[in-house]
Amino acid sequence: MIKINKLIHKLREKINIYNYKYYILNKPAITDQQYDLLLLKLEKLERYIPLEKKQKSPTQNINDSLLKNYKQITHKTPMLSLQNTFNSKFLYKQFICLYKKYINYKNFFCCELKFDGVAINLLYINGYLIHGLTRGNGYIGEDITHNISLINDIPKKLKGNNIPQTLEVRGEIFMTKKNFYYINQNFLMQKKNFCNTRSAVVGLLRMHNMNDYSNLLNFFCYGIGFTNKNIACYHTKLLRQCKTYGLPISRNIISCTKLQEIIQFYDFFKINRHKLSYDIDGIVIKINDLSLQKKIGYNSRAPKWAIAYKFHSQEKNTILKQIFFQTGRTGIITPIAYFKSIKISGVEISYATLYNINEIYRLDLKIGDIITIQRCGNVIPKIIHVVKSKRTKQHTNEVVIPQFCPSCNAKIINNNNLLYCSASFSCKAQFQEYLKHFISRNAINIKYVGQKLISHLVEKNIISNVMDLFTLNEKQLSLLNLGKITTQKILLSLYAKHKVYLHNFLFALGIKNMGIVTSKNIADYFITLENFLKADKDNLLKINGLGLKTISHICNFLKKTENIKYINLLRQKIDIIYLNIMK
Ligand code: IVH
Repeated sequence: MIKINKLIHKLREKINIYNYKYYILNKPAITDQQYDLLLLKLEKLERYIPLEKKQKSPTQNINDSLLKNYKQITHKTPMLSLQNTFNSKFLYKQFICLYKKYINYKNFFCCELKFDGVAINLLYINGYLIHGLTRGNGYIGEDITHNISLINDIPKKLKGNNIPQTLEVRGEIFMTKKNFYYINQNFLMQKKNFCNTRSAVVGLLRMHNMNDYSNLLNFFCYGIGFTNKNIACYHTKLLRQCKTYGLPISRNIISCTKLQEIIQFYDFFKINRHKLSYDIDGIVIKINDLSLQKKIGYNSRAPKWAIAYKFHSQEKNTILKQIFFQTGRTGIITPIAYFKSIKISGVEISYATLYNINEIYRLDLKIGDIITIQRCGNVIPKIIHVVKSKRTKQHTNEVVIPQFCPSCNAKIINNNNLLYCSASFSCKAQFQEYLKHFISRNAINIKYVGQKLISHLVEKNIISNVMDLFTLNEKQLSLLNLGKITTQKILLSLYAKHKVYLHNFLFALGIKNMGIVTSKNIADYFITLENFLKADKDNLLKINGLGLKTISHICNFLKKTENIKYINLLRQKIDIIYLNIMK
């Protein structure tokens, strides 16, 4: 017994340290799977000790404290955790088999995705958003209404009929993989780098003014905590009802009866999770009948009517071969780590972006190191750490940080460990990346002109500015051996007058921070290009979702005469279609 007590004590200490790193520092030290296994081990050991000795154990608390020093508000119903499993045998033993007697009921279970974000509790009274709380300790949450109300996906007022007077909505705030990449690029200045989409959500929600970034967060509703009026009998119907109120729900929800169907749903998303635009870490299986849910009830940590069936995290070790530095469209130079190629969940990978040189220092990378790569549902693989125990002095070399742009040799500017090429479009890499942006679908969308063609045209010095693209001729294209028909198609497409909407035109200008959604908001506000050219800080501030940083990039862009000249040249080749002009 003394041995068990000692083991329990050691495990609790270990888990508490991991909890601190995860919840307080927002820097997970181990994978979710490793954490869950430790917790499970502790739970098993604690079966041998009396209940009163468990009270202070991490197995008993559902601490999800993201934020300190925020106003604390009690949830109307507790926000509990979810029991979880990683294998189908356990899923059967721990969950499905308990409901054997109901198994012939049609659509007995509901399967959903398990979003990898932050749980949130929204209180609506008479349809109006009153507050938004984090889970906190499960009973009392932290009031983050200010930041929550900046998220577009979260309705400030519910729509439709039949809205209960009091409605406590439960769901997940998450970040798409695309936005995660974007934010890591943007936070470079602050020497911050989020290790996954969940940490990025926590990071933004912790900000006192997340105005600039609020359009990078999304929300899915996955249930109701409290309502004064029953709005549905089944969980699936309840979610559909929530959708009619304007609350976003995931498209990937099924109802089913058999274990086989659940496994099919799980396997499908295990294979296809990388195709989703956001991260998931498993699926959640819930009992569909809400009155049965009520009857089955909860234990101290989690409801007994739901279980998470989680994916194994996908990690492998390999050897770091080299770090190359790549110049992007806006001149930022990003380190890319190349390693001996490995296959993770069927996909061959050989490189990962490091975002900035701080990441090299943080991971303490040396060429020749054995590194652990993770593909956590992300399309973008990540180096999570160096296996230091395998490092040998004779097989590793320091990473050399370049002083000159790898593309054009111009001097590199080092601004707080963020590297910039000091040249602009005279740098081939920057010019090439800008052209790829310019011809892309959301910009000018030039038919038959793709990224590869652009690379060849720039590398072979056939074009050196954007306008050259429109005056390409047969002789120049013949240098690329494309064949007559393709050449003709490209030329016809380039010579035609391009018709693009104002938002696409604005996006094509490649102003820093101005994504397609921001471009659309700007176009909706200014309606014409002439109005946009007269934009100043005051009217830009009136536009939804536009942060100060973006506004300053726009103002700087419009101040430069060469940019106005460029716009005028473009207008000779491009017709802008105006959507909202009164006829
Ligand atoms: S239902 C009483 N459904 O997973 C708890 N949770 O590990 C009911 N999560 O804190 C939760 N996707 O934030 C539910 N489709 C989903 C979910 C989901 C993600 C999160 C949730 C919870 C955590 C538990």
